[in-house]
Amino acid sequence: MMEKAKRPERISAKIGPSILNADLSKLHEESVKLVSCGADYLHLDVMDGHFVPNITIGHPVVKCLASKMKNVFFETHMMVSNPDQWIEDMSQSHVDQYTFHVEASKDVKTTCRKVRESGMKVGIALKPGTPTKSVEEYIDIADMILIMTVEPGFGGQKFMDPMMAKVKWLRENYPTLDIEVDGGVGPSTIKACAEAGANMIVSGTAIISAPNQKTVMNEMRECVQSYIDKRQSTQGS
Ligand code: DX5
Ligand code: ZN
Repeated sequence: MMEKAKRPERISAKIGPSILNADLSKLHEESVKLVSCGADYLHLDVMDGHFVPNITIGHPVVKCLASKMKNVFFETHMMVSNPDQWIEDMSQSHVDQYTFHVEASKDVKTTCRKVRESGMKVGIALKPGTPTKSVEEYIDIADMILIMTVEPGFGGQKFMDPMMAKVKWLRENYPTLDIEVDGGVGPSTIKACAEAGANMIVSGTAIISAPNQKTVMNEMRECVQSYIDKRQSTQGS
């Protein structure tokens, strides 16, 4: 029997910028800037050219970056065909949370166990076409569920509003679960995410291209937190 994930008593709004569309020749500089502007964590998109039709960075780059920023919470979003293969390397690279795709894992429980045993938090991601039903039996052993709001592979795509039904279902059934959204999220789509119940917000282009990153992150965090507070006050908790 696998150990259940420990849930926080209360969830809070967190903004995790994705640096995918940043100037990657300045990866460290851009990351430091995001953190100084109030990023709650950094979301690193790892792609292998098989699970998605694109290649980005791997653990050698993650290791160099994370070892220079030891106080920052790093999530790696593993868009890879064999998620079990990179667990140990990412754990050695100071990664705090390993988010893998349910569609890619041959044995989700085993992948979850390996991630936890290596000392990282467990995130499970769902592509737009994957129903929440496919992760239901693993929610108790996961720290976070990521609902993709674009097809994984590229930054700068259009937000898929119908995905909010999945977020809503998860929030109604799991009031203290960390629920993340990723893809096309920015000031114009944040309200839909907040209202549906997401509390961990990945945003790439909208933050990277903003003239004032701090303002955009604050605005999105406040929006999400206001819905969390509203929900908690009506639940009387
Ligand atoms: C897409 C990635 C996302 C993406 C976010 O495959 O997982 O993290 O880069 O970027 P925007 O916010 O531009 O969609
Ligand atoms: Zn991502």
